[in-house]
Amino acid sequence: MLIRRKKQSDLKENELTPESIYRERREILKKLGIVTATLPIASQANANLFGLFGDDKKEEPAAAFVRNPLVAAKTSYGDGLELTPENKVLTYNNFYEFGTGKNDPVENSQGFKVDPWKLEVTGLVNNPITLSYDDLLKRFPLEDRLYRMRCVEAWSMNIPWVGFSLAALLKQADPLGSAKYVAFETLYDPDQMPGQRSQFVGGGIDYPYVEGLRLDEAMNPLTILSVGLYGQTLAPQNGAPVRLVVPWKYGFKGIKSVVKIHLLEAMPPTTWNLLARHEYGFYANVNPQVDHPRWSQGSERFIGEGTIFSSRRQPTLMFNGYADEVASLYSGMDLRANY
Ligand code: MTE
Repeated sequence: MLIRRKKQSDLKENELTPESIYRERREILKKLGIVTATLPIASQANANLFGLFGDDKKEEPAAAFVRNPLVAAKTSYGDGLELTPENKVLTYNNFYEFGTGKNDPVENSQGFKVDPWKLEVTGLVNNPITLSYDDLLKRFPLEDRLYRMRCVEAWSMNIPWVGFSLAALLKQADPLGSAKYVAFETLYDPDQMPGQRSQFVGGGIDYPYVEGLRLDEAMNPLTILSVGLYGQTLAPQNGAPVRLVVPWKYGFKGIKSVVKIHLLEAMPPTTWNLLARHEYGFYANVNPQVDHPRWSQGSERFIGEGTIFSSRRQPTLMFNGYADEVASLYSGMDLRANY
């Protein structure tokens, strides 16, 4: 994805991390049982480069974040799909608030505070709602759902999420008839998120990260708010304590660490569209027939067992394999114009 980088010569001295802290972060990875050698060379190079620039305030690296078991109803979603191993889901991430390298998020987010948390549902609703951390885990029935995840960068994973239907939450908020869109916002906390403090670390994004859906997309039964994966609460690098999962859309729609859900009449701005509107549209439906201007979307690298290098290429499916459930949402629409 597009990254605007500061030149190294532009960096202030206090944006450099002493080598000792950098090495301690590597130790955290080892304690998490993460073998960085399985990550692709480009990502490791990025991680090494970006690992040098970061948090000058944090003297002590945090211990590995503790995830807790969740009780969730089993479902048949994704039956028969091959799982992406958990350690890959936990270490190969995009979460630019913690750096742009694929293993920056796991390295830089272990001290992230998720409790207390406040998620507000506001805007064009009869009944505004504020959810606490406990509400997120207890107020709605949790389900296990194995979904395909297709990143716009042409790699994919199959991830067993734990979450609840976004429609259940929106129904409680009771949208007004005038509500047509749903906007989402990630926490803005530069003290905790090095990428929000430094343009260089955060890839030039104007934070907070924002996303949006049409109301009917948000109400679709496939759309969930996830609070966990692999039977445990989310790790910070995956968007703890709560993130959006919309499995027929490119992964960047899956906004992480959400604090605001706002219902409104007009289409809301979205982060990647603001950065490069010819490359990343509002809809971002997975579509093998509409290429990214700089690469094909016809196939993808599936991250499964084995090393990232040995991952297999597979054809990309229309709506990421969820056409039966969602194609009708777009009937009559030109999907090339509404990419
Ligand atoms: N949400 C926020 N707040 N910041 C981000 O950088 N990256 C997006 C999305 N959500 C991102 C985000 C992108 S590009 C992808 S592919 C997915 O998160 C990756 O989710 P994962 O790391 O849990 O696989």
